[in-house]
Amino acid sequence: MAYLVTGGCGFVGSNLTAELIRQGKKVIVLDNFTRPGTPTNLQWLRDRGEFSFYHADTRNAADVESVFRKHKIDCVFHLAGQVAMTTSLENPRRDFEVNVLGSINVLEAVRLLAPEATVVYASSNKVYGELENCVLRELPTRWEPEGAKGIDEHARLEFFTPYGCSKGAADQYMLEYARNFGVNAVVFRHSTIYGGRQISTFDQGWVGWFCQQAMQTAADPAHTFTMNGDGKQVRDLLHVSDAVRCYLAAHDHVQQAKGQAFNIGGGYENSMSLRELFLHLEQKLRVRMHPVTLPWRANDQKYFVADNSKATRFLQWRPQTSKEAGIADAIAWEQERRAT
Ligand SMILES: NC(=O)c1ccc[n+]([C@@H]2O[C@H](COP(=O)([O-])OP(=O)(O)OC[C@H]3O[C@@H](n4cnc5c(N)ncnc54)[C@H](O)[C@@H]3O)[C@@H](O)[C@H]2O)c1
Repeated sequence: MAYLVTGGCGFVGSNLTAELIRQGKKVIVLDNFTRPGTPTNLQWLRDRGEFSFYHADTRNAADVESVFRKHKIDCVFHLAGQVAMTTSLENPRRDFEVNVLGSINVLEAVRLLAPEATVVYASSNKVYGELENCVLRELPTRWEPEGAKGIDEHARLEFFTPYGCSKGAADQYMLEYARNFGVNAVVFRHSTIYGGRQISTFDQGWVGWFCQQAMQTAADPAHTFTMNGDGKQVRDLLHVSDAVRCYLAAHDHVQQAKGQAFNIGGGYENSMSLRELFLHLEQKLRVRMHPVTLPWRANDQKYFVADNSKATRFLQWRPQTSKEAGIADAIAWEQERRAT
């Protein structure tokens, strides 16, 4: 059985690939190294065992097809993507080409060359727009919903920002290919995944980014950094080890899960606002952080926490890593990066 991981040198992809190698699976990785740090992840994976690597681009249909012609693919984890809302505003065409065209190229290769294969797609909470129906109240450190704590898959789809449109389009194409062509496609809608091997930037990967800011504050107590909005926006933190188990579970349970979309996150007990993360880091690293406030990012949800119950029902999966343990791991990873 061969697994193809697109974006396999990225953050989630390298963790997933490492686990597949550890389990002795046949793995094929496709990545174009767009994300800084990806060659280092490739070397780290090579130190873990054997796999095939293609320096290739999902935007190029011939690149994708040639991998399917060379290998009999049983499962595709489609993680290659343009991953930030901010950069989608700077270059919407590129965002469209990577996320929509790249996904169609993967789906067409599956439809024509590997119709029995599972395809699991990493979509986003951004497909739910601003979640205006979720009534919130303001607490000292966070926004909190009046009603249910978790957002389920019945939330209205609303595509805002080019990134929301491109992730949403690919998300819907996955479900359409399942409906009309019988492709075994499964969609995961994630908000915040974090942990080791994430090369966090100002644009994406906020937990790792603010861990970096806390560490810089430890080195220089006058260090300042920016945050968008009031810092009370809440997300549920999904540790990458839980994400990896979820991807594997999708393939194991594909007969039940095909054609379905799932909200996948750390759940309410692992939710945090930016301010709450700062308080946590201040305590852990014995620092006082100095965020400088910038305007809200476009269409930033004030609150998103996944209701994981559909995933638990269909995939026999639930997150296991607490936010405290996960943040300790994220700090350790940032420390390791600084040391090398
Ligand atoms: N990390 C999160 O919090 C999060 C949240 C929601 C959704 N997602 C989605 O999960 C997936 C993986 O995210 P990640 O955090 O690992 O991101 P990442 O940037 O670390 O990984 C993406 C990988 O795809 C590669 N890539 C980009 N464009 C490519 C192309 N055209 N062809 C081949 N490779 C290409 C990059 O080089 C990188 O290695 C993405 O699709 C992302 O949108 C992630």
